[in-house]
Amino acid sequence: MRIGVSVVSKKRVLLGVTGGVAAYKVVELARVLTQDGVDVQTVMTKAACRFIGPVTFQSLTGNPVYTDLWETNAACDMAHINLSRGANMILVAPASANFIAKLANGLADDLLSTLCIARDCSLMIAPAMNRQMWQNPAMQRNLLLLRQDGVKIIGPASGEQACGEIGMGRMLEASELVEAVQIFIQADTLLRGKNILVTAGPTYEAIDAVRGITNNSSGKMGYAVAKAALEMGAKVTLISGPTCLLSPAVDKFISVVSAEEMLRAVQAEVSQADIFISVAAVADYRAASISQQKLKKSTNKLSVELIPNPDILMAVSTLPNAPFCIGFAAETEDLEKNAAAKRNRKKLPLLVANLAQDAIGSDENELILLDDDGKHVLPKAAKIEQARRLMKHIYLLYNKKFKKNEKY
Ligand code: C5P
Repeated sequence: MRIGVSVVSKKRVLLGVTGGVAAYKVVELARVLTQDGVDVQTVMTKAACRFIGPVTFQSLTGNPVYTDLWETNAACDMAHINLSRGANMILVAPASANFIAKLANGLADDLLSTLCIARDCSLMIAPAMNRQMWQNPAMQRNLLLLRQDGVKIIGPASGEQACGEIGMGRMLEASELVEAVQIFIQADTLLRGKNILVTAGPTYEAIDAVRGITNNSSGKMGYAVAKAALEMGAKVTLISGPTCLLSPAVDKFISVVSAEEMLRAVQAEVSQADIFISVAAVADYRAASISQQKLKKSTNKLSVELIPNPDILMAVSTLPNAPFCIGFAAETEDLEKNAAAKRNRKKLPLLVANLAQDAIGSDENELILLDDDGKHVLPKAAKIEQARRLMKHIYLLYNKKFKKNEKY
């Protein structure tokens, strides 16, 4: 019987196998993925080799199987880093309790854990263990940490276990794993050929030669959105206000300071864009006049006249040939009500709302997506993970609008 969905070619999956009875299911996973044209590179822990022989994976995938950090590094220079380069993802299945604890705490004492910590691709794990181990508070703590780090956890399911007990902890079946992997690696190309314009970070509005007004935005969410769009194959232009972040490897990075500069940069780029995602926290006001010299301190009151900045998103969303526009709203109160009003006012197919006090500067947030179908909550997770979920949602809405019947 053939398991799986559509054929995927030229994708590379690094398959990590740790010690658990469920390793037998992963043999079938390796076979089906290989048959579907996926290049499967297997790395096994010592304990995994007690359950299944490396030769089995080697025969089914046609690739050598790596098991030992030291031997492997001798045979292949820096294998603990290089094996994951070029991989679309790492899947660890089964992921044992011990391996999950190591991952959550950043340990790197064997080849697989070292590869995971040195990866530059996504990591998915399929836990498999006894129900008591699964429920153990330390295990749940570790899982929480991994989720926050953006690791995708699939399963486990509930059912009869190898030990004879019944409960949560059974690894997903091979067919379910195949489907999860295929959906994940297909996502890499979902936005190929699309130009995505992203604004990120704060703007800084000068008052005099050394002072100005700005806001607390770190730029983390906008940069994560740019990265997630890149991961899905899009061409990304990132226009950013001042941040302390390293830009992801976008196709074009434009650094700006003020809202007016950001507007000009957006106007110069927007005709190329299929999708515009306005994540920037643009300052709503700027000084009516900027003093070229530093204003001198005195004991008198000082008034600064502020005038409204242009609304960049509105300027784009009301263009006759507007790209597909997505806005963000950071609110401190009445989140949904304010966000829904903003979506209407700016005529947006999708508005992403979050609580300012939770999101600003933080590495994680909860998002509420408001679109024509209503509200979708993305529960709290690392910003990069939220950005990936958001981009998949944007992809679906975009395709719906342009009547392409695709699924991710
Ligand atoms: O109106 P408000 O600032 O609350 O709307 C937030 C959304 O509008 C964000 O997507 C932000 O990037 C965008 N915005 C903008 N130009 C402004 C103010 C906000 O593009 N001047």
